[in-house]
Amino acid sequence: MPAGGGSPCTVVRNGSGKTMFLYLDNAATSHPKPPSVYEAVRHALEEVGATPGRAAHRRAREALGMVSQARSKVARLLGIANPESVVFTKNATESINVVLKGWLRYGDRVVISGMEHNSVVRPLGRLSTSGIAIETVRCSPRGQIDLDDLYDRLKPPPRLVVLVHASNVNGAMQPVEEASKMCSDEGVPLLLDAAQTAGIQPTYADGWNLGMLACSGHKALLGPPGIGILYVRSDLDVLPLIEGGTGSRSEEIVQPEYCPDRYESGTPNLPGIAGLTAGVEFILKQGMDSIREHELALGSILEQELANLPGVIVYGPGVRGTGSVSFTIDGLNPSDAGTLLDAGFDIAVRTGLHCAPLAHQTLGTYPEGTVRVSPGYSTSGEDIEYFLHSLRSLLRKCRK
Ligand SMILES: Cc1ncc(COP(=O)(O)O)c(C=O)c1O
Repeated sequence: MPAGGGSPCTVVRNGSGKTMFLYLDNAATSHPKPPSVYEAVRHALEEVGATPGRAAHRRAREALGMVSQARSKVARLLGIANPESVVFTKNATESINVVLKGWLRYGDRVVISGMEHNSVVRPLGRLSTSGIAIETVRCSPRGQIDLDDLYDRLKPPPRLVVLVHASNVNGAMQPVEEASKMCSDEGVPLLLDAAQTAGIQPTYADGWNLGMLACSGHKALLGPPGIGILYVRSDLDVLPLIEGGTGSRSEEIVQPEYCPDRYESGTPNLPGIAGLTAGVEFILKQGMDSIREHELALGSILEQELANLPGVIVYGPGVRGTGSVSFTIDGLNPSDAGTLLDAGFDIAVRTGLHCAPLAHQTLGTYPEGTVRVSPGYSTSGEDIEYFLHSLRSLLRKCRK
């Protein structure tokens, strides 16, 4: 049974002959959201409307209460003791940019893994032109970092280590606990990119002594697009990327130095924050463990069944952290496979490099990339069967 109960994604042809899509692109953004998320967004926009933290009227106070509630719920899910350390951003990309541009200085060295997303690689690419050196930790062909190589690169200590919790390409999960212990022992802050795992994998920002954590609100946290999360440990002086009105200390011309105001300038995205709260409440109610087990089970079935198909190569992870599965087909370009699945079978998958060329170099799938199937909380076993059935049929047609 899907963790969400029922299967809103199942492909059915209704009386009018209309087809519903089978959405298997949850690693990009989760869909559908729980109904309570849509309702929370509507309520915030239509019935609350006000900007939180700016005025004393009733609606503004209600809005502020909603933001405080969101911080508490997110903090609980991510293992952050102080909810005021939860910062709302636009997305994981913005959170990562704040850290990289606000923490690294001319002459610094930063260590990343060979599985990082372009949201890490591209800002670093620019920073490398202003005196910041980037080193990449070796990874296995399945995407797991080599802890010995990380250990060696911590001497002398770099200014920062960046690690993706689980790959958006093949779901490979990194040994965060071990990596963060190594970093802590050398006094090096670790930035964890939890874009793919927040909402399905237990995360202990305080317990792991993370320096910073960045994640999306619109993926497994089930919120709407336009909302992301940033956490910065209180002893780290990360400069803000944007300064402006915060509704606090308005008499001062300098940005407040405390969290979350330091990093939250301008009108906040209240509908996004409200939707995120509803997403987190859904996860807490369903149980993150059951959602994770469901998605990982679907990922494992996909991996096994795809590996049995002639001409299909699966790029499985050493340790699976999400349900995402990447594969290629002999003689068929990934993007053509995606187009055929879309046009012929009403199935949405992602193809190509998934904004992670570095990960594809590690997995040996650069430059063409892969076909990626990413189930979500509401994907059912029947959905996966339909996908496999469709792929078999596509392969038969292509080989004729
Ligand atoms: C591993 C990883 N990091 C960062 C991002 C960027 O997330 P966002 O779209 O929320 O900026 C993504 C998005 O797919 C991702 O998969």
